[in-house]
Amino acid sequence: MADFQKVTTTEDLPPGKMKEFTLGGKKITVANTDGEYFAFQAECTHEHCALAGGFLDGYTLTCYCHGAQFDVSTGGVLAPPATSPITVYKTKVDGENILVAVD
Ligand code: FES
Repeated sequence: MADFQKVTTTEDLPPGKMKEFTLGGKKITVANTDGEYFAFQAECTHEHCALAGGFLDGYTLTCYCHGAQFDVSTGGVLAPPATSPITVYKTKVDGENILVAVD
């Protein structure tokens, strides 16, 4: 069963923003897509650039290094040069706390 842990608060992550955190020994990125929160691996599957440094437009994350695009709700690749999906983690909001399960 998933073990949810607090990562941050909704106040700390405004709409359209992404931030990197460490949870359970894993580096993760948490994104706020206009009020929905998604958590996924911290590094791009192309050449390991930090996804939190990229650009978010709705569910579409564009990596700032070479322009690969991912759907943050599914992890799927939307545009190359990345070919492998990103790992997404279960996320929920409890009051103002954003909780993620990385196991
Ligand atoms: S490292 Fe992300 S597109 Fe190359």
